[in-house]
Amino acid sequence: MRNLLPFISSHPGGRSALTCRFRCGDACFKETPNNSDNEYAGDIIAGAVSRRSMMRAAAVVTVATAAGTAALTGPSAPQAEAAALAGHGHRPGHPHKPAPSGARGLRFSPVAPNKDDKVTIPDGYAQNIVIRWGEPILRGAPAFDPDKQTAKAQAGQFGYNNDFLSLLPLRGERGRQVLVANHEYTDEILMFRGYDPANPTREQVEIAWAAHGLSVVVVQEEHRTGKLGPVNRHPLNRRLTATTEFRMTGPAAGSALLRTSADGTGRKVLGTLNNCAGGTTPWGTTLHGEENFNQYFANGNTDMHKRYGIGTSATERKWERFDRRFDLAKEPNEANRFGWVVELDPYDPDSTPRKRTALGRFKHEAAQPRLTSDGRPVVYMGDDEKFDYLYKFVSSKRMKKGNSRAAREHNLTLLDEGTLYVAKLTGDSPVTEIDGTGKLPVDGEFDGSGVWIPLATGTTSHVPGMTADEVYVYTRLAGDKVGATKMDRPEDVEPSPRTGRVYVALTNNSDRGKAGKPGADEANPRNSNKHGQILELAENWDDPAGDGFAWRLFLVAGDPDDPATYFSGFPKENVSPISCPDNVAFDAHGNLWISTDGNQLGSHDGLFGVATHGDRRGELKQFLTVPAGAETCGPVIQDRRVLVAVQHPGEIDGASVEKPASVWPDGPGKIVRPSVVAVWRKDGRDIGV
Ligand code: FEO
Ligand code: CA
Ligand code: CA
Repeated sequence: MRNLLPFISSHPGGRSALTCRFRCGDACFKETPNNSDNEYAGDIIAGAVSRRSMMRAAAVVTVATAAGTAALTGPSAPQAEAAALAGHGHRPGHPHKPAPSGARGLRFSPVAPNKDDKVTIPDGYAQNIVIRWGEPILRGAPAFDPDKQTAKAQAGQFGYNNDFLSLLPLRGERGRQVLVANHEYTDEILMFRGYDPANPTREQVEIAWAAHGLSVVVVQEEHRTGKLGPVNRHPLNRRLTATTEFRMTGPAAGSALLRTSADGTGRKVLGTLNNCAGGTTPWGTTLHGEENFNQYFANGNTDMHKRYGIGTSATERKWERFDRRFDLAKEPNEANRFGWVVELDPYDPDSTPRKRTALGRFKHEAAQPRLTSDGRPVVYMGDDEKFDYLYKFVSSKRMKKGNSRAAREHNLTLLDEGTLYVAKLTGDSPVTEIDGTGKLPVDGEFDGSGVWIPLATGTTSHVPGMTADEVYVYTRLAGDKVGATKMDRPEDVEPSPRTGRVYVALTNNSDRGKAGKPGADEANPRNSNKHGQILELAENWDDPAGDGFAWRLFLVAGDPDDPATYFSGFPKENVSPISCPDNVAFDAHGNLWISTDGNQLGSHDGLFGVATHGDRRGELKQFLTVPAGAETCGPVIQDRRVLVAVQHPGEIDGASVEKPASVWPDGPGKIVRPSVVAVWRKDGRDIGV
């Protein structure tokens, strides 16, 4: 487990330049968009939040610290039902079956770090490719032919660069489930033979539009194995692309900030872009975060464009040449219609997907809901940018149980009304003990208390100087004004179905501590943070809708030989090295599964499992690694199957269709294809136990 490969030099975040270019528009190389002076200027909340809010926040911290600290010591039984409803991989509306305790930890032989061009899994496990980029899923779509790609064909085929995955039950069809996948972005150099980045053709651009978005595809399992495969032309199968009609809903829908010359209503948008991770709701819908949407828009010219990382010139993909809405000099509000959480009803192929304005606009990594004890959804969300913020939304409406038409219609309004909050974290150790190296403070933990600062409730703004519409559309600015804590790239957030504690993946932050940038704080304790950390929050277990919490770092990632790492005190000689945690998911036993994006330890990316409570808390084990250039995404952990999305395989500097850097999944001579992989135990027993 410990035989680390030599360190490799790589881009900030451990990805290739090619991935940085196409995935996030070279975000790491550009000026950090958050240049607000909150936090590191030392004047935290004063002047930004009303005195009343400040006093309320202070009072709540006192209460919550007591409640939260209690919650951090272990699970408490009365909340199990609400927690189970929020769990990943459980059937919406179905009670959670009693699960054995995750305190036993995970019992597979860890995969060693490696650079093999394949998916490497533990001994005793098997795998198959569930679906590849380009496989036909809709009626009339042709088989994939890399040399005969058309936009029309792609619109009926599985999209490019699968990221988030959700598997939902399909009643009445034995052995079948509904797979929903995000297609985060396109890499034209790896898609098209002879691609000329300076002169993309209209057909190539339209293929890219069709390769973005979401796929819904019914999958069938093979009898007696974990193998899954697509059911072509199933009536639920669906593609949503960069040109599908979406509806804006919630308090900012119709706002002047969302109107364009093509849509005077501010309620109708074409397409969804850069869907990274997401979530599965207890009412049977899926949520999809629009992340690095900035890179698709040319000629940004306002402070708000800058705060969202939108550049001032042409874009990498040059879409603005083919559709004027991507040129902000011509259509300044079009970018305001991206950067939202999308909600999709995968059971209704005719439904119009919604962009939920109540959840705010930023680079949404993911959105994972749970329910309060009285049935109101609480959604946790990270804004994946260096020095940006962690958010939550609390609905004011209760979920209706059951699958009746009335219940489903009601539940499709849950994310339109409520309060949006941003997190402020305060450490409990003296600041002099947080020296930026990752050395633990004298009290032995990076920990403290926090407040959720309200930003807006319905059409009421809580941020002085901003209207509610402005809070929702320019949420980053609202976070700046109220003194939210600048985090190390908040990614996926997931509540534990066993303990109710909430886990936040913070990927890395190469700029932490640089001249003119914020230095280390107790929640982000390393300068030039290459490997990231995982934060554990405990809210009032009976009321996760409250506005105070306790927190501590669960993992400080890296090579366990590095003294600046922390695995909740578990002996470091018995853990796997990990770098750049990104997506997180729970199994039914309460083990946390972590996929990585970037690796600065000389291995390919991977998927890891770790117990979060009991004696084996912190015993991190690597479950799989992915092929060259790839990122591990979308983990779904079912009792007897793990599903991962292998995103951007072969995306290594200098690679192209003609000169591939990976031969995965189909071997030499075949084009590299992002694909979904299923893994199961050969003996048919539960994963990892
Ligand atoms: Fe698409 Fe934040 O990773
Ligand atoms: Ca401390
Ligand atoms: Ca991600």
